[in-house]
Amino acid sequence: MMNGVLPLGANQSSANSNPTGIAVIGCGYWGMNYVRIFNELTESRVAAVCEQSPERLKEVARRFPNVYLTTQIDDVLSQPDVHAVVVCTEASSHYNVARRLLSAGKHLLVEKPLTTTSRDAENLIELADSHSVTLMVGHTFIFNAGIRKVKEYVKQDTGRVYYLYARRTNLGPIRRDVNALWDLAPHDIAIFNYLLDATPEWVSAVGGKVLGNSRDDVGFVSLGYPGNVLAHVHVSWADPDKAREVVVVKSDRRILFNDLNGVEQVRVFEKGVSCVEEEPLNYGEFRFQIRDGDIISPRIEAAEPLKSQCRHFLECVRTGKRPVSSGVAGRDVVRVLEGINRSMECKGLQVSVEDKADYVHPNVEAAEAPECSLR
Ligand SMILES: NC(=O)c1ccc[n+]([C@@H]2O[C@H](COP(=O)([O-])OP(=O)(O)OC[C@H]3O[C@@H](n4cnc5c(N)ncnc54)[C@H](O)[C@@H]3O)[C@@H](O)[C@H]2O)c1
Repeated sequence: MMNGVLPLGANQSSANSNPTGIAVIGCGYWGMNYVRIFNELTESRVAAVCEQSPERLKEVARRFPNVYLTTQIDDVLSQPDVHAVVVCTEASSHYNVARRLLSAGKHLLVEKPLTTTSRDAENLIELADSHSVTLMVGHTFIFNAGIRKVKEYVKQDTGRVYYLYARRTNLGPIRRDVNALWDLAPHDIAIFNYLLDATPEWVSAVGGKVLGNSRDDVGFVSLGYPGNVLAHVHVSWADPDKAREVVVVKSDRRILFNDLNGVEQVRVFEKGVSCVEEEPLNYGEFRFQIRDGDIISPRIEAAEPLKSQCRHFLECVRTGKRPVSSGVAGRDVVRVLEGINRSMECKGLQVSVEDKADYVHPNVEAAEAPECSLR
């Protein structure tokens, strides 16, 4: 029995008699939600919280008086009842914190983005494999019942996916370690990858430092998925209009997800246009069929996405099942983010996501590479 965790295949009732001990590292705005949820679930108990800020620790102590508190990760590692850990620190520290915990054989749920380089993500995946522990990433929207519903409609084989787009804008919160693209776009890239069961082949991105600091506050990203499926993401933390939208346009319908619409989170427009497979009228002229139909607002299960994510993590820890948002899924998103960086450095040049060898960094010596280019 690794770390006192129930053996593979343990059922829920035995799990509840032996709740999984959780530690949360980093208890700022988002980490507090993890403490609340793992405290509420019968399958888990929060055994420790590690937070560098004494003010935040005081707040945790006020809300959760029975939880062991510390500022040191080593103290968490020495707690015998900590079996699994959530890393909810700033993105730039995920790798170093996660590496220590995986090396100590802890199951891990790391917030998005998993790491700030794909090499670091690979290292974490290897570490988790070598210690036979779960590595999951907090792609919370994959656990959103509305997004799950969208996937049902995307997967119905009635029509072809033409393109997708997403808008994730708000005024703040403004990060100090990563730009708005690394902070916000992981959600939308993870959603697209999940909906299409694929990863993009190329990316083209531009950003803007509209607030005048050193990081991009706004970004526009185009992605090319297999089968010529196009996707687009607009992110901003400098936009007074809060939006959390994803749209999928298929040949026979348009599927709209609006996370801020509490009444109709998903709407399906049963309309579309497709090319009719007939002889063209003339050379270069094709027949198109417009389809008009109902607007459907499907029933969406009322469930807190973060709670569903936490339940899934606990299940994976107990059973050894591979998480839906696995370390590999996290690495795939980080690869796209690296592609975004490379494209932005080249003013929006379309770059391959997979193959870094075809990319010439703009800062290399002029003699070697006079300008950004794809070789
Ligand atoms: N999945 C989602 O929907 C979602 C939403 C919000 C934030 N996030 C992610 O959660 C993470 C945290 O975001 P946040 O908004 O809570 O940020 P935050 O700045 O409010 O909190 C981070 C906390 O981590 C603490 N910390 C940093 N290093 C530490 C260490 N070594 N040991 C102990 N404590 C440490 C800081 O003191 C701070 O309180 C980020 O990765 C962010 O991208 C995810």
